[in-house]
Amino acid sequence: VSLDIEPSRLTVTKTMSPKELPASKNLMFGRTFSDHMLKIRWTDATGWEAPSIEPFGTINLSPGATVLHYAQSLFEGMKAYRHEDGTVTMFRPDMNMKRMNNSAKRLALPAFDGNALLECIKELISLDRQWIPKESGHSLYIRPTLIGTNGTLGVAPPTEALLFVITSPVGPYYPHGFKPVPLHGTTEYIRAAPGGTGAYKLAANYAPGVVAQKSAAKQGYAQNLWLHGPEHWLTEVGTMNLFAVIKDKDGITELITPPLDGMILPGVTRDSVLALARNHTSGVKRLGGLPDVIKVSERPINMGEIIQSSKEGRLVELFGTGTAAVVTPVDRIGYNGGDVTIPTGKDGMGPISEPLWAELVGIQTGAIKSNWNYVV
Ligand code: COI
Repeated sequence: VSLDIEPSRLTVTKTMSPKELPASKNLMFGRTFSDHMLKIRWTDATGWEAPSIEPFGTINLSPGATVLHYAQSLFEGMKAYRHEDGTVTMFRPDMNMKRMNNSAKRLALPAFDGNALLECIKELISLDRQWIPKESGHSLYIRPTLIGTNGTLGVAPPTEALLFVITSPVGPYYPHGFKPVPLHGTTEYIRAAPGGTGAYKLAANYAPGVVAQKSAAKQGYAQNLWLHGPEHWLTEVGTMNLFAVIKDKDGITELITPPLDGMILPGVTRDSVLALARNHTSGVKRLGGLPDVIKVSERPINMGEIIQSSKEGRLVELFGTGTAAVVTPVDRIGYNGGDVTIPTGKDGMGPISEPLWAELVGIQTGAIKSNWNYVV
């Protein structure tokens, strides 16, 4: 019998040497880790073994471990927030569990009961609860990871795997407020292709992006904009999803993001921004500051349309969305040897992204009640 993850079998070994908590103002993304980690081993013979919470520490792997050779590795990113009243919540973690299972299936790694893993993560966060910074805009970044660990060089489904979860206290991604970033339109490298793995959160999707990022930085841009195909379809921004806002010829505001066509990562922030905009227009929940009607479109958009709408004064804004940075406004795209200027609002954020961001962050930090919050 192959067992699923069983929270009732969880064992906890507390650290004998708790670390000093870092000062919140010095936090850099992913540099500091909390005192404990969650580990769950899997073998094809036993299924998922008993979960354990242990002191944060190194993991032993055979140099033959498949993760090291064939990138049998996937991960998730989510956040826990400490509310004013002390409540700790995670934001829509069910979506991360679903996506993690989809990633696992894509790599022939073992799937698992997402609710059971969440129960174990809840225990980890409760134990390390003092590691969740209290300051506004701060959170505990949670990094579940699943790797193939059998030390055999055959290219095959793993027969042994390790699921582990580490957590890292993080401050606001942009500590000095929203400074819009310039993007280099990347056409010489691709992030994803039809039938590829772009829609899954695989480690292997990220390593090849580093040279594209480096090349963008060398040319004076903060990040790169992944353009796909000869038509230069906009797909993602660095490690984030992408939104454009355009006024159509009738003056209606259209919020556009590329469709989930297999090349786009199904981002939790992407989904949340779409839902908030749709709920605003349908009247489920109106948000102040937005036009009465926003046309919400999951459709392809290419550089030709960006340039055309910019020329006609109809381009409103462009921004990236992700768990780490939430919303990142863009002010410029380096493209074809020139720069396309993107309008930005007065505080750096655009007129559509600002109210959506405020609502989203209000929910995440507990100021606004929502069933998107999962109480730890
Ligand atoms: C995100 O949350 O935007 C990410 O994917 C960032 C992570 C890869 C560091």
